[in-house]
This record gives sequence, structure tokens and C-alpha cells, in this order.
Amino acid sequence: GSHEWIAPTATDARSPCPGLNTLANHGYLPRDGRNISVPMILDAALEGFNVDPDGLIVAAKFGLLSGNAPTTLDLDALVLHSLIEHDASISRGDFALGDNLHFNETIFTTLMNANPGADNYNTTSAGQVMHDRLAISLATNPSITNTPKEFALRTIESALYLSVMGNPLTGIAPKEFVQIFFREERMPIEEGWTRPTTSITRASLNALGAVIIANANWTATQECEALVLGP
Ligand code: HEM
Ligand code: MG
Repeated sequence: GSHEWIAPTATDARSPCPGLNTLANHGYLPRDGRNISVPMILDAALEGFNVDPDGLIVAAKFGLLSGNAPTTLDLDALVLHSLIEHDASISRGDFALGDNLHFNETIFTTLMNANPGADNYNTTSAGQVMHDRLAISLATNPSITNTPKEFALRTIESALYLSVMGNPLTGIAPKEFVQIFFREERMPIEEGWTRPTTSITRASLNALGAVIIANANWTATQECEALVLGP
């Protein structure tokens, strides 16, 4: 099909995930955002962003638990709090504070203003953004959940925006591309972005994640049970 960017209509389902929404807005996923299987997600992420299935399969399988259909999900169901959706997001508000689904320019200010004086974001700035967003949530949301589970998700998400909008090996991503990805859920092709030529894998995401973690200066405010995510 055609992969031009088309804004979602009022009845199209969209998620709290800028990655999946961008894939739907470009027709790599169904534009209506509904009845999406795990293989459809893995194929779309590979085709659109060169993300290897090994980096997404756990998240995609988890996503199936957002609804009752046995093998598919709708993007809007991914708003389900504490399945994947968590507090202290980069571009959405906390669940207990109202809207945890839609892009929020005020919330996004922290990332927008990160790495001042440079025209790129990187693993250092991404870790600082995670720290600063969490500090704001801790100060404003008495119901915040902040366990190792949320931190692990937030870390991989930060590695993902740096990788899909920038260089998956260095974690350096042009600010303009990252901002268009979050604000418009669009691939910034007219602005010069191209699909990463380096495969984005679980290993590459974890390598960026290690530096992001080192700069996030994180501590848990709650504990969680051990997560078993595969054999
Ligand atoms: C959040 C990127 C795949 C579900 C996010 C965020 C980013 C991102 C950057 C953070 C948004 C924020 O903090 O405001 C991507 C990319 C993907 C991808 C680039 C693939 C190319 C997936 C998959 C699933 C998923 C496979 C599950 C089916 C979610 C959910 C959130 C999220 C539920 C909301 C978490 C939150 O911020 O509360 N994603 N993602 N994503 N992603 Fe994805
Ligand atoms: Mg959230």
C-alpha cells in the first residue's frame, strides 16, 4: 500500500505510543488502528523503522492483553494503565492526572528543551529527560507508580526514539526529527530523515539503554515482583 502520512480520522484508533501511531499514520499498520496482530506489528516496525522483531516481540505480546480478542489488539486499548502504559511519560500525562493517551505539548517541554545548544538529542540527554520527567511526576502525582518495571519500559522507549529517529549505534538523533516524530507522529522524510540502515535490535537498544540508565540517576519508589518475560 501507500506509505504517505495521513492524519488519523476521528474514528481511527490511536495509542499512547508514538512509534505505533506513526506506523499507522503511514499505512505500515492499518490506518484505522484496529485488529492488529503481533506479526503485523513486527513486520511494520521492520519495514518502517528497521526494528528487528527481537526488540519488540515481548512488548507486542504484552499488548495483546489490552483487550479480549485472542490474537489481535486495537491501538486505543494500549492506554490501559500499568499494562505497558506508565507514569512519567515523555509526551503524555500521568493516568491519575487525566489524559495518558494524547500528545501533550506541556509535558513534552522537558524533552524539547533537553541538550541545550546542540541540534541533537543523545543517550545523556535522554537519561536526564527521564530523570526530570520522573521528578515532575513525583512532585505532582500522589498516585505515581515507579517500580523497576516502569523504569525498564521508559528506558527502552528512550532508546527507541533515539534509534528510529537517529543513529541506532551512537544514539544521536536530530532534534528536529525527534520532535516531528512525537508531535505529528510522522516520519520526517521531507526534512531528510531516512529509515535507519543499521538494524535496531534488542542488543543495540540495550547498549543505548545502559548509557541512558547511567544518566537517569534513578531510584525506585515502589518495588515490583520479578518479571519473567521469556524462557
Ligand atoms: C510508548 C516508541 C513499539 C506500546 C512509547 C514511547 C516511545 C515509543 C518513544 C514513549 C512515549 C512517551 O514517553 O511519551 C516505539 C517505537 C516502536 C514501539 C519506535 C516500534 C517501532 C511498541 C510496541 C508496543 C508499544 C510493539 C506494544 C504493542 C507502547 C505503549 C506506550 C509506548 C503502550 C505508552 C507508554 C507510556 O509512555 O506510558 N513507544 N514503540 N510500542 N509504546 Fe511504543
Ligand atoms: Mg504514560
